[in-house]
Amino acid sequence: MNRDPLHTAVCDLFGMETPIFAFTHSLEVVKAVALAGGLPVFGATRHTPEEIAIAIERIRESIGGRPFGVDLVLPSGMPERNDRAAIEAQLPPAHVAFVEQLKQEYGIPPPLRAGKRSRFVRSAEVAREQVRVVLEAQPPLLACGIGSPAEVVTEAKERGIRVASLVGNVKHARRAVAAGASLIIAQGYDAGAHTGEIGTFSLVPQVVRAVAPLPVLAAGGVVSGAHLAAALCLGAAGVWSGTQWLATCESPLEPAIKQKLLAASADDTTRTRAISGKWNRQLKTAWTAAWDDPGTPNPLPMPYHDILVGDTLTAIQDHQIGPLWGSAAGQGIGLITEERPAAAVLTEMAAEARTILAALTG
Ligand SMILES: Cc1cc2nc3c(=O)[nH]c(=O)nc-3n(C[C@H](O)[C@H](O)[C@H](O)COP(=O)(O)O)c2cc1C
Repeated sequence: MNRDPLHTAVCDLFGMETPIFAFTHSLEVVKAVALAGGLPVFGATRHTPEEIAIAIERIRESIGGRPFGVDLVLPSGMPERNDRAAIEAQLPPAHVAFVEQLKQEYGIPPPLRAGKRSRFVRSAEVAREQVRVVLEAQPPLLACGIGSPAEVVTEAKERGIRVASLVGNVKHARRAVAAGASLIIAQGYDAGAHTGEIGTFSLVPQVVRAVAPLPVLAAGGVVSGAHLAAALCLGAAGVWSGTQWLATCESPLEPAIKQKLLAASADDTTRTRAISGKWNRQLKTAWTAAWDDPGTPNPLPMPYHDILVGDTLTAIQDHQIGPLWGSAAGQGIGLITEERPAAAVLTEMAAEARTILAALTG
């Protein structure tokens, strides 16, 4: 009997059917991906520890014993305390004035809820608590978006949790291996994410070679079975994607922003610091253009930029201020043209990859 070419090392590692990992903020997408045989990863970084604990419980209820992951962003150099007033007191007046000017220019009312990026400060204090609840809940996978602190990796492994590190270059991949990561996600410049400057096609085989025999997932622009087949040819053991799940039927994004994503082509995205203070690929909007204009203030470092703009970004979403309203989006966006169920996205990707790989091997 022929071996399934999609049965790779990560399938054995996690007991999953198809080596497709889906980053998402939606519990509905988590459920659909898990039931279809992929491995969903819940993006928890903007959630409080209490919310994370509840989300993990809900995930378990909805997917039974299937594997899943939780993603946290744990950058170094964040302030110790979750003290918004202390951060606000340090915001440069010219930056505050620029945000006020944008609010006036576009008539942005106050947000209807606490700002997603500003309701707590990304700080060591919050990160410790987020990590604590994730470790206590023992999901099969903890993914570290930025930074993989060795003490977190060690404790996770002691509790039987595998740790994946997202990296954008070989140096960071080696650092993640030294910290004890079980899985490396080589995420290229193409990604709808905090990205480095190396494209996915160049990055993946370099990371594969540097961290062998650890399994590597290819990320950044992955939206089809052709990408999955190519990733395996580049030496990866699977793929990890984010943008394509935003446009699925289960994704709770507002219809207007889903339409923007479906209509976008690869050159409608830009790498900008205008959202979080770190380089991040987003849809081009009047917001990204305003901050990228050389005549305007430079975005502040994380987490100061979060506090500077977090309430305003949430207000833009709450009031659907079209020209300013965007989303993270990778360069693969040009191939995402219709809203489809997440399970169909996954199974069609797998089927297309099998067909391509079968044709290659005759
Ligand atoms: C809306 C959105 C939010 C994201 N937030 C995070 C995050 O909090 N942590 C993280 O590790 N990656 C995050 N990512 C990046 C994904 O994990 C993934 O690496 C990326 O989407 C891959 O590129 P693609 O968008 O081209 O598929 C996000 C991606 C999107 C689209």
